Amino acid sequence: KKIIIAIDGYSSCGKSTMAKDLAREIGYIYVDTGAMYRAVTLYALRKDLFRPDGSVKTGELEACMPDIDISFRLNKETMRPDTYLNGELIEHEIRTLEVSSHVSPIAAVPFVRHALVAQQQQMGKEKGIVMDGRDIGTTVFPHAELKIFVTASAEVRAQRRFDELKAKGMPARFNDILRNVQERDYIDTHREISPLRRAEDAILLDNSNMTIDQQRQWLIDRYNE
Ligand code: C5P
Repeated sequence: KKIIIAIDGYSSCGKSTMAKDLAREIGYIYVDTGAMYRAVTLYALRKDLFRPDGSVKTGELEACMPDIDISFRLNKETMRPDTYLNGELIEHEIRTLEVSSHVSPIAAVPFVRHALVAQQQQMGKEKGIVMDGRDIGTTVFPHAELKIFVTASAEVRAQRRFDELKAKGMPARFNDILRNVQERDYIDTHREISPLRRAEDAILLDNSNMTIDQQRQWLIDRYNE
């Protein structure tokens, strides 16, 4: 059986680690939809499409949308997909705090969501896919066979992102990251279009007190059920 697995939840809750591990284990394609919103954000930052108050110059961005091509290619070393913007490898650039602090307003722009959701649905035509994001179980694939909604406390999530950035040699202050996590939670749950929420038929996982191995096993058990 090849199915669609939708994994949604809050920022930095470890969804993508779980989703990537599961995909690798069961031989599915993994799609990180957050990376797609981050890619549009990187493009907008480079083209100076933010106003000083942080809002998006939507008219100019809309005109640029046809020039934004986002794709994934498998990295043979990590065995995970890397993100490309118009053919350029941007996997590292899209993880900076600068991109993290500008992504939520980009993700609230309706034409951005429509374009990315359409691309995501196209990717799902090929079953055997694990997709992680905020609206996969509610909007992208409301009929996904398995839906998971992941959460953890904001402090635990900020600590994980802090550790991850430090391990990559991208230092940042814990309090800045915590504030960013809380701001994104707020914008993501309060935006008008596809706000972050649990689909009624999604299984809830609070992983605040779980190790990565425990999460991996929990997810594989749900898949095998
Ligand atoms: O998952 P990640 O933290 O990389 O996502 C970055 C941002 O992209 C989120 O804070 C959210 O604003 C947006 N996003 C979204 N819908 C998705 C995936 C991400 O709105 N499906």
